[in-house]
Amino acid sequence: MTDQSPSRRMVQDRNAQGTHPGYMPGFGNDFETEALPGALPQGMNSPQKCEYGLYGEQLSGTAFTAPSHQNERTWCYRIRPSVKHSRRYTKIDLPYWKTAPHVVEDVISLGQYRWDPVPHSDTPLTWLTGMRTMTTAGDVNTQVGMASHIYLVTASMVDEYFYSADSEILIVPQEGTLRFFTELGIIDLAPQEIAIIPRGLLYRVEVVEGPARGFVCENYGQKFELPGRGPIGANCMANRRDFKTPVAAFEDREVPSTVTVKWCGQFHVTEIGHSPLDVVAWHGNYAPVKYDLTTYCPVGAILFDHPDPSIFTVLTAPSGVPGTANIDFVLFRERWMVAEDTFRPPWYHKNIMSELMGNIYGQYDAKPQGFVPGGMSLHNMMLPHGPDREAFEGASSAELAPHKLDDTMSFMFETRFPQHLTAFAAKEAPLQDDYIDCWTSLEKKFDGTPGTK
Ligand SMILES: [Fe+2]
Repeated sequence: MTDQSPSRRMVQDRNAQGTHPGYMPGFGNDFETEALPGALPQGMNSPQKCEYGLYGEQLSGTAFTAPSHQNERTWCYRIRPSVKHSRRYTKIDLPYWKTAPHVVEDVISLGQYRWDPVPHSDTPLTWLTGMRTMTTAGDVNTQVGMASHIYLVTASMVDEYFYSADSEILIVPQEGTLRFFTELGIIDLAPQEIAIIPRGLLYRVEVVEGPARGFVCENYGQKFELPGRGPIGANCMANRRDFKTPVAAFEDREVPSTVTVKWCGQFHVTEIGHSPLDVVAWHGNYAPVKYDLTTYCPVGAILFDHPDPSIFTVLTAPSGVPGTANIDFVLFRERWMVAEDTFRPPWYHKNIMSELMGNIYGQYDAKPQGFVPGGMSLHNMMLPHGPDREAFEGASSAELAPHKLDDTMSFMFETRFPQHLTAFAAKEAPLQDDYIDCWTSLEKKFDGTPGTK
């Protein structure tokens, strides 16, 4: 008998290929790459004259004096220095892209919320006009907190470029394929993959296969890093080699273009006469990266009980309080359930952290119905949540044979800060008004009789 389950097929496909063309493996490596031979200076950063008449420029992702193990910067060798990509700015409005602090007077963020997938509209939408903020947390001005967004993209950015000075951007596609042409190279991104675009990095987004929908976590705080594995050791969970950073790629195009900058929650546009994606060669450790979620190696219970979901952390962005993340990105994917005498789904819970979930594909084990691919849910700070009646009753009486959770991939953006709903999330997005009812039919079973289970 051949096993044709989706996760099995992915493993077979993965074994059939080595390093992807166009990408360099590793997380936080010190990379070097050049699109033209000899463009990258060797042994130094600032030669008196660079090859090809290029300009040398540093992009600093951390303060100059950050500790060595956290220090991130990249040296770029480009056709024009970035000051030529930045003229006078005018403010523009992107009314659906919100930034913390953003507390809407007549919106109640206290509640358990769940949404159906936000539908595409008939209007062509780009990466900028198609961003729909669902929640915000913290304060962009002090560089703490985050925002969660849904993107609905059907149109490519043409002669239009963007960067966020506010945030690094974590992208979780659910539908369609996008191309992120960044200053440092090209990332093609499809469902089951994620990408991180660093703060300050210029790019434009093209639709490779549309329509495209997915989730974005905008991180105002310290950069995402891999979580410490502790006693788990040097392997499993997300492994460094499975992250891919693009090789250098550039444009030499002289056409009227715009650069939009997100800065302290506001959007500003400047007009230039050429493409700013003109980095011919670069070296450094501040760079965009993508990751195939099917390479995430989950660890879990092998005898009894259910560990905290932190064992499924793919990436964590520290907050300055040890072990308390500004954001954790957590993945719930295919895995075996084998625990004995154990209630296997996620337990009932109240949490000081706030949990925003999204479904990439398949069925989530705590909610067999209603939490569908493209949908989201929010269990805010100190609000109870847990399995619905169907999940509870099923898991309480199931025969506890080894069981494969297959065809399932959901994630969580978990932050130490309360998440505030936008007016879009509360009033325009397809909110499921009856979500709270999924717990209504849970029965009282207690009657004081010993031995009752
Ligand atoms: Fe929870």
